[in-house]
Amino acid sequence: MSSMVKDETAPSARPRLPGMPVHVGVIMDGNGRWAARRGLPRIEGHRRGVEALRETVRAAIGFGLSYLTVYSFSMENWNRPVEEVADLMGLLKRFIRDDLNDLDKSGVKVKVIGARDNLKADIRALLEEAENLTKANTRLTLIVAFNYGSRQEIAAAARSLAQQAAAGLIEASDIDETLLARHLDTAGIPDPDLIIRTSGEQRLSNFLMWQAAYSEFVFLPMHWPDFDRQAFSAALAEFSARERRFGGVTGQYRNGKLLAGVTKT
Ligand code: FPP
Repeated sequence: MSSMVKDETAPSARPRLPGMPVHVGVIMDGNGRWAARRGLPRIEGHRRGVEALRETVRAAIGFGLSYLTVYSFSMENWNRPVEEVADLMGLLKRFIRDDLNDLDKSGVKVKVIGARDNLKADIRALLEEAENLTKANTRLTLIVAFNYGSRQEIAAAARSLAQQAAAGLIEASDIDETLLARHLDTAGIPDPDLIIRTSGEQRLSNFLMWQAAYSEFVFLPMHWPDFDRQAFSAALAEFSARERRFGGVTGQYRNGKLLAGVTKT
């Protein structure tokens, strides 16, 4: 089994090249179809998917990205056959057990988004261990969306704000985009600049729906186990060639920032 890049020097964030995204989200789709095409069981597709994930994390470090969010298990994935759900849980456990130390040495901070309450205690403990061990790292934040659903995340934020309003801690009129965003699992994390989805499907499937309001999308025909550094690099090149206007007009933004001296009118 391959391992993450080792680096003993407590690496920190690298300067980012102009035109590169800060945060990339990835919908790792097509493991089952990859396996079916080869006459293999679906779990083999997921296993190869973990290999592709390892390569993607290594590549993200090399590209100097600051945040990488991967959709590894959606709330809707519980509807899969019980054996496949068990396989995916097993792969997550193995991924953390096998890769956590190397991720840590590579300067990766692991953060998990999604609901924890209906997860088994051993998985919850592993997720917490991964977050605690790596919390001081600064080179790349790897956000693992596990048991995650964007609608559920937004509903939970609304519920929490309603409870605070009912308790008199805030006024209903205090609730705006900024306050709501602070109650999402992704609080403090910049919105994804780019979302990549493999397997030819062109939808968001309940992934970062609030956060993706102004994301660019790159849809790739390849299945996730075939995704590699080269495919990642091509997706980044496509991103850097796009002009992001954030609802404004041509020329107002560079690298996601409103240019000085340019006003939105
Ligand atoms: C989509 O392929 C992929 C998933 C539902 C799971 C993604 C999981 C991994 C890449 C490996 C596990 C991740 C971790 C962090 C351990 P699909 O099964 O929907 O493929 P299909 O649409 O072709 O059936």
